[in-house]
Amino acid sequence: MPSQSALVHTFNGIPFSTRSSKELLHTLDSFEAREDDVLLVSYPKSGTHWLAEILKNLYRTQQGANGCGTVTLTSPIEFGDPSKYEDLRNLPSPRLIPTHLNYKMLPVQLKTKKCKMIYIIRNPKDTAVSLYHYYKDNPNLPTIDKWTTFLEMFLRGEVVCGSWFDHIHSWEDHKNDDNVLILYYEAMKKDATRSIEQLSNFLGVNLTPEKIHEIAMKSSFSEMKEQAQKENINPNNTVCALTSNKQLIFRKGTVGDWKNHFSTKQTKIFDAQIEEKMNSSQLMKCIEY
Ligand code: A3P
Repeated sequence: MPSQSALVHTFNGIPFSTRSSKELLHTLDSFEAREDDVLLVSYPKSGTHWLAEILKNLYRTQQGANGCGTVTLTSPIEFGDPSKYEDLRNLPSPRLIPTHLNYKMLPVQLKTKKCKMIYIIRNPKDTAVSLYHYYKDNPNLPTIDKWTTFLEMFLRGEVVCGSWFDHIHSWEDHKNDDNVLILYYEAMKKDATRSIEQLSNFLGVNLTPEKIHEIAMKSSFSEMKEQAQKENINPNNTVCALTSNKQLIFRKGTVGDWKNHFSTKQTKIFDAQIEEKMNSSQLMKCIEY
């Protein structure tokens, strides 16, 4: 069993799990992007799997010349070792590529080729709670038993993928780029069909209202949780698996679970940090919670 400190390492001042090798992080810019790559970006626990499921269904429903459309969901671009980029080269287009990297760290070709990027944002309090449980249940991350300790680490950006605040800020200047679509977890919960419509317009995929409804149903929390219980993911598939253990992903899937975790004092401290760090952020202003 690896020691606790061996489960996380730091690169460019940001903590990463050992699923992201240092060697790969050093060679991110060697990733060869294609113009039809679609990037699915999120800070961890913001609804990455949900969005990936919607996108997979959205592409599959599309009627192309050969019948049903497809998309290849890869593993996150920062997971694995440098040989992974060789493997990604052999995957068919379009590739749907998840990542938790901030904007600055993205492989350069994804930017120069203006690949479509979808950034999903979740309110930071629920994100912190979700990440806390993920740490607790995941043998590949350090054990942090106490919520108070975890919350302090989250606020200092000492958790995997670093500071939530910095992550959002890194996207602020790109929120209006033509190749970028920003989605919000809370808005998706309120009206998933509206978000699916936004996605289909952004990706140029024509869908009937019936198909949109069908995708919303297929990607609902209960459907996905049930499906995950049936699925047996191969943890050795480092090219195509978004997650090696899907059981850890589907916990509650709600908005506002933070209220069951934050004390009044913790809420005050957290709100003060939001005020101080996110005052100028337009993205923050759009989070409804
Ligand atoms: P909770 O821990 O609050 O339940 P990610 O996919 O980025 O790791 O995010 C995981 C979070 O998204 C978990 O939050 C999970 O329950 C939630 N989630 C996953 N699928 C969902 C769905 N279909 N609808 C709503 N939330 C979902």
